[in-house]
Amino acid sequence: MAGSANLNVMMKTARKAGRVLLKDFGEVENLQVSSKGPGDFVSRADKAAEATIKEELMRARPTYGFLGEEDKELEGDDPTRRWIVDPLDGTTNFLHGLPHWAVSIALEHKGQIVAGVIYDPVKDEMFYAEKGSGAWLNESRLRVSGRHRLIESIFATGLPFAGRSDLPQTMQDLARLLPACSGVRRFGAASLDLAYVAAGRYDGFWERGLHAWDLAAGIVIVREAGGIVEPLQPGRDILADGQIICANEPVFETFARVIRKA
Ligand code: IPD
Repeated sequence: MAGSANLNVMMKTARKAGRVLLKDFGEVENLQVSSKGPGDFVSRADKAAEATIKEELMRARPTYGFLGEEDKELEGDDPTRRWIVDPLDGTTNFLHGLPHWAVSIALEHKGQIVAGVIYDPVKDEMFYAEKGSGAWLNESRLRVSGRHRLIESIFATGLPFAGRSDLPQTMQDLARLLPACSGVRRFGAASLDLAYVAAGRYDGFWERGLHAWDLAAGIVIVREAGGIVEPLQPGRDILADGQIICANEPVFETFARVIRKA
């Protein structure tokens, strides 16, 4: 699809950061066996990727604001537009040499996400969407799955780790959902979970305790692929709260009823 100038900037930037991260990923695989492990190296790679993205985006659009995972927020001269960026979503996968992580870049205009790009450099999969123009994976149009029945559907989520407070709720979600569906996956990169819902690979996704940068790009991609995206607690703000539920239209209601029972 021929995208807008902004979308082209976002894709070019995601590819550039992806190339650098891919090289670092090769190094991480070597570092697994060292006694110190790849921790410091990965945190440097993450920060360097954000710096590259920030430089590219700020050069192309000097007046836009910038919210990234690694650095403090930058307010732009244009208060209506900001980039929301996760330079490396799936950091723990990256750290362990697991080939499932992504660069995520979103553009917000007047409080709404209007464009999103999620790039998986290992698989060379570029998921992207602009409001009103559909969602795409490389050259192909994306559509959420057509499954109607919960029992045939698979869902993705994130499992709270390292003492996160929402573990009991997530365990209860799983206890209710697992008997009623075809399976739940935890691949470890929320942006790709959303991209996979848009691609019809998963039928839905929910998670608590996320950040705006994990979610922003995926929201517009799922919606443009025909999916329903809502705050997990109705009436709340997805990006501010970091809680989300999404699915294809036919299963959304049943799925949401099960998850929202918490
Ligand atoms: C993480 C991933 C993961 C989710 C975590 C996030 P990061 O993002 O998206 O899937 O379960 O809550 O923090 O830290 O790798 O950018």
